[in-house]
Amino acid sequence: MATGNEEINIGLMGLGTVGGGVAASLVENAEAIKRKTGRTVQLRRALVRDISRHRDPEPPDGLLTTNPEDILADPAIDIVVEVMGGDTPAGEYLERALVAGKHVVTANKEVMARRGPALLALAQERRVNLLFEASAGGGIPIVGCLMSQLLANDIRSVRSIINGTTNYILTRMARQQAPFADALSEAQSLGYAEADPTNDVEGIDAAYKLSVLGSLAFHRAIPHQSIYTEGISRLAPEDFRYAAELGYAIKSLAIAAAQPDGAVCARVHPVLVPEDHLLAKVDGVYNAVEVTGDLCGQIILHGQGAGRDATTSAVMGDLLNIVRGLGNTGGPPPLPQPNDTGRHGVADSDVQPIGELSSAYYMRLTCADQAGVLAQIARILGDGNISIATVIQKDTDPGGGTAQLVITSYPSREADVQTALAAVAKLDVVVSVNNLIRIEE
Ligand code: NAP
Ligand code: HSE
Repeated sequence: MATGNEEINIGLMGLGTVGGGVAASLVENAEAIKRKTGRTVQLRRALVRDISRHRDPEPPDGLLTTNPEDILADPAIDIVVEVMGGDTPAGEYLERALVAGKHVVTANKEVMARRGPALLALAQERRVNLLFEASAGGGIPIVGCLMSQLLANDIRSVRSIINGTTNYILTRMARQQAPFADALSEAQSLGYAEADPTNDVEGIDAAYKLSVLGSLAFHRAIPHQSIYTEGISRLAPEDFRYAAELGYAIKSLAIAAAQPDGAVCARVHPVLVPEDHLLAKVDGVYNAVEVTGDLCGQIILHGQGAGRDATTSAVMGDLLNIVRGLGNTGGPPPLPQPNDTGRHGVADSDVQPIGELSSAYYMRLTCADQAGVLAQIARILGDGNISIATVIQKDTDPGGGTAQLVITSYPSREADVQTALAAVAKLDVVVSVNNLIRIEE
């Protein structure tokens, strides 16, 4: 392990979109890195799955390996940068690197959501760093911000757009009425999407990131399995049209918010956001994280949440910070374990069930276009304690004798809304309940 002025050797695990950016930065910015850190940083090995794959630029002889031992068991490697993705085998490799006394930088949100507390505890025990800025928000420095600059705050909420692929698709659907499949394949070809894009469009990737950000913001474990997650595949072109008429944009938000009883509400789903709110204006692959704290008030960080260069910025920032601080190790404090007790004296895993959420709602229904239909629906909603804010009838189909009803409610309890809508769906005059979208004011 280097502690003096000798070279720092890097073992890179993964040489894809992000790994390629990190490798290029280490080579192209070698002089600047030396100026900024006072050390020479050298890429020693790079782990890949398929050594015969064509790569541009062609890596130097001897750099690539398919054997993880060439990095994990090499005592000359000081820092492991993991940009492979996935929980297995990446999680095991990180654990082994830490046990071997190597510092670790990772961009892997899945590993941090699943194993973050244990890995950070291990890093602390071994007195090495484990940094993970790129695991949430891509190029936006939100992890470091929550971990240090905002630490004095009692955080009230984190509301974020943290999946670039989803935001790219929603922007294309809203602006150009692009079909979902076309927008997704564009995001894939631009290197934004995960290997399995289901994780992006179903909100799983955002839930991993929210688990990381929520745990840091609320000083308690927010297990990703406890985060209510809903994808964007149910959104139809008419939802974007009607939302715009009502003065809203549709965004997929990842939200963690403190509740009066001390629980944290953590959820990822499509949301109607007032079109004059800053989050409504975050377009394309851009991400944004709004943090509200008792001291800092409301802060919004905005930037590129995915892509080679933005993510390389976050990974290299962590790497250079480790190089600058070598000999001063120990890393950030571990994320809380699920059985810790939070500052409100409740179990740290106390995440509010979605049924207890209080929110305003947008509902879109296809109904028979005849007298008395609205009255039947309104009676069920009223009996369920759901107060209607607006009703508009859209897109009448005289041939089929149907029309679309768009109803918005005042804030209501989610479980009451779900129960009432199930009853509405059973009415003879209702053809289908097409969508239910929460409204954030
Ligand atoms: P990627 O383009 O698919 O690259 C993955 C790399 O890891 C490839 O070089 C692959 O080898 C290698 N690899 C994967 N599994 C391996 C295994 N079992 N053994 C050895 N090598 C393996 O992925 P990426 O987009 O760069 O993402 C990497 C990580 O960064 C992920 O955790 C991702 O969530 C995170 N991240 C990505 C972005 C982004 O915009 N792409 C942004 C923020 C965070 P081959 O080259 O031989 O296939
Ligand atoms: N697939 C992710 C996204 C990459 O689209 O945001 C960044 O983590």
